[in-house]
Amino acid sequence: MSKTALVTGASRGIGLETTRRFILNHDDITTVVMFARDSEDFDDNVAALESELPIGRKIVPYRVDVGDRSALKKAVKQAYDEVGNIDILINNAGYTNPVPLQQVKMADFEKTMNVNLYGPFTIVKTLLNRGNRFDLIVNIASTAGINGRSGWLTYSASKAAVINMSQVMREELSIYGTRVVCLSPAAPRPHCAARSRRRRIPARSCSPSTSLR
Ligand SMILES: NC(=O)c1ccc[n+]([C@@H]2O[C@H](COP(=O)([O-])OP(=O)(O)OC[C@H]3O[C@@H](n4cnc5c(N)ncnc54)[C@H](OP(=O)(O)O)[C@@H]3O)[C@@H](O)[C@H]2O)c1
Repeated sequence: MSKTALVTGASRGIGLETTRRFILNHDDITTVVMFARDSEDFDDNVAALESELPIGRKIVPYRVDVGDRSALKKAVKQAYDEVGNIDILINNAGYTNPVPLQQVKMADFEKTMNVNLYGPFTIVKTLLNRGNRFDLIVNIASTAGINGRSGWLTYSASKAAVINMSQVMREELSIYGTRVVCLSPAAPRPHCAARSRRRRIPARSCSPSTSLR
């Protein structure tokens, strides 16, 4: 059966690569809805992806700020009306502005929570209330949400909340057969990557505690 995915933060990085792999390498995923803010990068990457699309596959870009709750709700409803049930949701969009604790501005803390925590929650709640049934929800957190990262208070707090929220989603949505996965990538560590290149070992084996979780 053909599946539809929605990926936030799909203009670059992990979100763009996830979209590319879904639409090019997964036979069962025929539609990917891409959420990101309006930008030339997004336009260019959508155009590049469209030029490689296999027959019968489509990408559906939406220009939306995940941190703007009313715009987000509107976009989610429009996407649902346009493509139907979202089977796979990848909550990937992320924002951070690392500063020392004394310099944290409340407006920036609120923006971080809006994009990293309330955005993913709003997408899930809006779709559930529309009658959507998910097969899989993937929330992207961070190792900063597990241990906290000095200088990254707002980001660490938002990602810790994402990890906890994912546990509750997993329990509450299991009755629908929905799998909820929370991934916590580690920030790249240049010295680790250089060492593994010299020794020809995979970077992830430098520290099991910082690998994907
Ligand atoms: N890469 C890492 O080392 C690492 C480590 C730990 C966790 N993570 C997490 O993994 C996720 C992806 O990271 P990445 O490295 O791929 O990041 P990235 O290359 O900086 O991309 C971030 C994505 O999020 C989108 N985004 C940011 N603010 C947004 C907003 N207000 N509304 C809509 N989209 C927004 C960006 O889109 P626009 O700016 O174009 O709107 C972009 O597509 C994030 O949640 C990040 O916290 C990454």
